[in-house]
Amino acid sequence: FWAAAARRRLRWIRTFDTAQDCDLSRGKIRWFEGGRLNVSVNCLDRHVDTCPEKVALIWERDEPGSEVKVTYRELLEMTCRLGNLLRRRGVKRGDCVTIYMPSCPMAVASMLACARIGAAHNVVFAGFSAEALSERIRDAQSSTVITVNQGVRGGKVVELKKTVDEAVRSCSSVQQVFVAMRTEKPAEMTAVDVALDEEMLKEEVVCEPAAMDSEDVLFLLYTSGSTGKPKGLVHTQAGYLLYAALTHRYVFSYQDGDVFGCVADIGWITGHSYAVYGPLANGGTTVLFESTPVYPNPGRYWETVQRLGINQFYGAPTAIRLLLKYGDQWVQKYDRSTLKTLGTAVGEPINTEAWEWYHRVVGDGRCPVVDTWWQTETGGICISPRPAEPGAEIIPGMAMRPFFGIQPVLMDAEGNVQNSTEASGALCIAQPWPGMARTIHNDHQRFLETYCHPYPGYFFTGDGAYRSKDGYYQITGRLDDVINVSGHRIGTAEIEDVVNQCPVVAESAVIGYSHDIKGQGVYAFVVLKQGVDAQKGDVSQQLKDMVSKRIAKYAGPDCIQLVKRLPKTRSGKIMRRVLRKIVERELESLGDLSTLDDPTAVQEIIQGHKELC
Ligand code: WT7
Repeated sequence: FWAAAARRRLRWIRTFDTAQDCDLSRGKIRWFEGGRLNVSVNCLDRHVDTCPEKVALIWERDEPGSEVKVTYRELLEMTCRLGNLLRRRGVKRGDCVTIYMPSCPMAVASMLACARIGAAHNVVFAGFSAEALSERIRDAQSSTVITVNQGVRGGKVVELKKTVDEAVRSCSSVQQVFVAMRTEKPAEMTAVDVALDEEMLKEEVVCEPAAMDSEDVLFLLYTSGSTGKPKGLVHTQAGYLLYAALTHRYVFSYQDGDVFGCVADIGWITGHSYAVYGPLANGGTTVLFESTPVYPNPGRYWETVQRLGINQFYGAPTAIRLLLKYGDQWVQKYDRSTLKTLGTAVGEPINTEAWEWYHRVVGDGRCPVVDTWWQTETGGICISPRPAEPGAEIIPGMAMRPFFGIQPVLMDAEGNVQNSTEASGALCIAQPWPGMARTIHNDHQRFLETYCHPYPGYFFTGDGAYRSKDGYYQITGRLDDVINVSGHRIGTAEIEDVVNQCPVVAESAVIGYSHDIKGQGVYAFVVLKQGVDAQKGDVSQQLKDMVSKRIAKYAGPDCIQLVKRLPKTRSGKIMRRVLRKIVERELESLGDLSTLDDPTAVQEIIQGHKELC
């Protein structure tokens, strides 16, 4: 199946010898070996050959009505100039370039220019702090960074170049920073800075594509795990591209000529697979959304749908929940008759109310809603309805069916595959698929321990799931200490690391709790050092600021409860399960407390929580 798809859907420089050579138990995942291709050629040149003037990108800029269209010919030109510039400035095949930019054509051209010359890219979400950025640059060992002078979002200017300046101060590897101009205001340039727009114009519009092996690295993308250190997941060329292209086509019922509107930022896997690679591999027209769902008002998405004639809209549950609260009139004001499919996911479950509203109000009850389950690790959608297929059923709030070639299994607590149709358990995937991540950059051992060893022979997703008697899947949430805040994935350990570094803090425990709009909020239990007589408000604010500054705004705790001690087992392990139950107000099901070291700790915390919330 995959070999036929790869032959038909990709343009090869040299065709592959074997479809796959994988052994999940050893973390060996290799697809289409012997094959050579160039991803940028697949996303650009082959469409320029047939329809050069077709619009590839619609850059939906922050200010409504100021969109910019870029044709395939123009995007290929930008990519080639940029590829030549990178090459001339010493970027080599196998190097890793860090991209810190908002969603815009130059960011896409940067990704594709890397692919053109055989460099890997590492896009870091432009909402990340200088420290988070610098950690990712260092881990990726990038010597080149590409950024913009300033970003613009929700009517506000964001000083991205300044953040890069701060970040590279602690990155000795960085030799050059390319700065594109998003606003008029010139950036203060340092010795390593290069004016991207000017330099690009000096380059040729033709750039020889590197012939890449199928399994060469296409990109790294950092995501959170259950320890403090983010992991750079590695995706490779052919398998990733094929999987993104195929899922884009079949999940969203994409057809030639459609305008595809994925509003996720390119800094996340959703932006990579469904704003860039999937649609471009299919020769589609894709929207790059720079703004927010409420700028300049809560009708923004639907006004954009009307103005650009969007056919498929792919958004996050957190935004849908937010917009639902503003009422139907913001949706009904605009003509949404072009819409055919509505997608949701982007990192979190959608509740039934939001699903129904999306379906009934946004889609006028006529557009199927696809709830898509996947992860940075999976490269593309793995479980989702495919509404174009005859008889396809969709049940609100369920991710429904595995995609072609995906074999989900549910494991019980003992690690046995659950054979009955109706079951719940740890979600694993029994067979490798072309889009899956190959390893963690510089840490294959961690890849094995996280994904391959928990259930030998299977890929462990970290999520729990339920399978109905009809064989449909519903995702029930993470089984580890990873939480999802407004669709942004974050490890509670990362937040704890920052909180614990505050001089007055002795220790802390961070957990996620259900939040109306964000899906999950961040709740921090903090023990102050002995003798610290901190003004409660001050410490809380200080901790929130620290987390925003060190990680990103969205990671800042919504709630901070100062406690005398944390509930621990006699061996000193924090009982997070108990903390979660307290915060979710499920006091009747605190569970077995017999292993608690000091039972009064729990009573104190329950009392404190009542007073706080
Ligand atoms: C985690 C992955 C959607 C991909 C982009 C985010 C959660 C993802 C669903 C869904 C419920 C979902 C899982 C997963 N998740 N899709 N349809 N229903 N939960 O990728 O940042 O790597 O996050 O998002 O917990 O493990 P990510």
